[in-house]
Amino acid sequence: MRTEMNGLTALVTGASSGIGLELTRKLLSEDWHVIGLNRSNFPVEDEWIQSAMRNGKLREYKADLTDFGQLKQALDTIKARETRIDVLFNNAGGSLAEIRYSKQNREMHFELQTVTPYIIFMELKELLHKGSIRTVVNTSTNAFTMLKSFHPETLERPTKFKKLFGPYAATKLALSLWTREIAPLAELEGITIRSADPGGNNTIRKGNRSGLPFYLKPVMKLFFSSPSKGASLLYDAALGHHGGLNGVFFMKGKVAELKFIDQGRRVLDKIDVIYKQEFKSLT
Ligand SMILES: NC(=O)c1ccc[n+]([C@@H]2O[C@H](COP(=O)([O-])OP(=O)(O)OC[C@H]3O[C@@H](n4cnc5c(N)ncnc54)[C@H](OP(=O)(O)O)[C@@H]3O)[C@@H](O)[C@H]2O)c1
Repeated sequence: MRTEMNGLTALVTGASSGIGLELTRKLLSEDWHVIGLNRSNFPVEDEWIQSAMRNGKLREYKADLTDFGQLKQALDTIKARETRIDVLFNNAGGSLAEIRYSKQNREMHFELQTVTPYIIFMELKELLHKGSIRTVVNTSTNAFTMLKSFHPETLERPTKFKKLFGPYAATKLALSLWTREIAPLAELEGITIRSADPGGNNTIRKGNRSGLPFYLKPVMKLFFSSPSKGASLLYDAALGHHGGLNGVFFMKGKVAELKFIDQGRRVLDKIDVIYKQEFKSLT
């Protein structure tokens, strides 16, 4: 069954908490329809969110985005049920406390923050074409400004690990680099794609093993903004007055330079092979 809805529609990944949840609230409050592509449920105690789900303005699809089987099932269901996407926010992500590998046997940050956003973009292009805004915003970070080197060939199997400034930062840089690299091609199809740093937001959650260096946890608790700040920056990256800016990376709401842009093509080629050879061959 297709949901016959004509309002502006955003798809937000990782909409169940933190910045993604605040972005969902902001969009709903402006009468958008929101499709959440989440691993966890929306908060059951949040009556406003629950009522948006009951009235159909907020629709939830579930998947661990690092599991290609689950991802494919969720994307197929979205394609069967939804009629348009105006803005795609690839937002799910986060810093892990140690090296872990996905079901497909690639480092988890790389799978979630570099590969999966590409697959979601490629698979949902048709729905983006049916929307009127045709914009993609990939949530990145300024943490990669600290990187002194960047090697696309080690993204899948890093040889070293550091919280936040290791694979987390490198795979977000890879995300911003493929965003920049693919922008001219996306433009030919009428799609604008950008990446944006949502700034420092206090999204510490009880029970989550932190991937932050120990000295940053108190800083986050005391000095970082509420996640509504990050949500506003992502919203502006999509819908602010940026004219024809395509492929750009926003930091503090302004276009910022990316490092290692000569590596963008290699990153894009690498994830495109994964998409075409692994994901597309799933039945
Ligand atoms: N907070 C900051 O200061 C900051 C700064 C720069 C960039 N960012 C970026 O902003 C984005 C949102 O982060 P946040 O701070 O709002 O953190 P958060 O509250 O932990 O939200 C992260 C969201 O991503 C989801 N997610 C994580 N792994 C997933 C998986 N394998 N499959 C599906 N969903 C998954 C989480 O779902 P679960 O609830 O199931 O874990 C959650 O909904 C991330 O990309 C993060 O890297 C944050």
